[in-house]
Amino acid sequence: MTSSPSPILVTGGAGFIGANFVLQWIAETGTPLVNLDKLTYAGNLANLASVAGDARHVFVQGDIGDAALVAKLLAEHRPCAVVNFAAESHVDRSIHGAGEFIQTNVLGTFRLLESVRHYWQALPAGEKDAFRFLHVSTDEVYGSLGPADPAFTERHNYRPNSPYSASKAGSDHLVRAWHHTYGLPVLTTNCSNNYGPFQFPEKLIPLVILNAMQGKPLPVYGDGQNVRDWLFVTDHCAAIRTVLARGSPGEVYNIGGDCERANLDVVRAICRALDEFLPGSAHRPHERLIAFVPDRPGHDRRYAIDTSKVKRELGWQPAVTFEQGLKQTVRWYLDHEQWVRGVQSGEYRNWIAANYTQRQKAS
Ligand code: NAD
Ligand code: TYD
Repeated sequence: MTSSPSPILVTGGAGFIGANFVLQWIAETGTPLVNLDKLTYAGNLANLASVAGDARHVFVQGDIGDAALVAKLLAEHRPCAVVNFAAESHVDRSIHGAGEFIQTNVLGTFRLLESVRHYWQALPAGEKDAFRFLHVSTDEVYGSLGPADPAFTERHNYRPNSPYSASKAGSDHLVRAWHHTYGLPVLTTNCSNNYGPFQFPEKLIPLVILNAMQGKPLPVYGDGQNVRDWLFVTDHCAAIRTVLARGSPGEVYNIGGDCERANLDVVRAICRALDEFLPGSAHRPHERLIAFVPDRPGHDRRYAIDTSKVKRELGWQPAVTFEQGLKQTVRWYLDHEQWVRGVQSGEYRNWIAANYTQRQKAS
């Protein structure tokens, strides 16, 4: 008799990266998963429409900080791993109001760790050894680099500068402490900026694609020379699966695309892709829509990730180049009008008004 494989518990699996992870996990492993998501403004069941009727995907709406709910899910489904994506994730929103970031990213992670610890401590020896808690985090916890500084390694000091990155740093420290103090077999990944299908259009790349398609200004903060390292989302999801399968408990793995780009170059590349895909558009050349706006307060100048550890120890590397991934992403937004209409709802319009209307045009 063969027993069915244990599921994993994914949190935040209706958001951008979480949904891509869920879809990839089911397609590549066929193993069941339970998806716990609060469905905040960023969570969207339309991202999961293709697995809606699939018995391998069990969706539960709820909060990672709800200890009773999490304990019930753990007892009922007996997952062999928890992958924690759930978070408030947008720097600009954290500047407008940090409360939810502390609530979910710090307190929520603490409560989730406690629920998981109680479950894990009661597991039989074999299952206990094999269990993993993977915490998905960001490169932003390391702070900002100068132009000639070496890229972030896993040994770089934490120097978070925004309410978002400070709250993620807090969660990383809790995860580390739950391993050191209680022995919980944790893994932490710190990844650079993701882009790809299903990203909520408050983040740079989807915001610029949609504004450009609609002939609206493309807001570039400051001088547009802030640098981010970009990774296509499916490569991040593959990295998480690799770390989950082969990472050593207690270890941290930096994930990135070896792809540093200044924001202005990213925006221009999107404009060129749209010029090519929409030869009849009245907004061509889309670069005309670029509008420099006042900078984000405390805006980190540069992030860069040293990925040598995950490559050397676990054999992961990105498969999609920035040029391929960006074109694929632009195409995806052009082809998913209904999804776009669904997310550009009342709440979205309120955010755009709050973040951009008060910014005076800088030039
Ligand atoms: P997202 O904002 O698109 O999605 C977050 C998801 O978490 C949403 O579905 C939301 O409903 C859910 N959620 C929020 N609070 C919750 C709570 N209390 N309980 C349960 N669910 C809750 O974010 P994303 O871009 O997909 O990021 C996912 C994770 O990856 C985050 O932890 C983020 O810090 C990290 N990360 C993101 C990037 C990036 O570029 N987007 C890069 C590195 C790391
Ligand atoms: P974002 O996508 O918000 O990610 P993060 O702040 O986590 O890196 O922003 C990416 C970069 O783009 C960042 O340097 C800020 C900049 N940016 C703009 O110039 N204009 C915008 O409208 C947005 C949302 C971001």
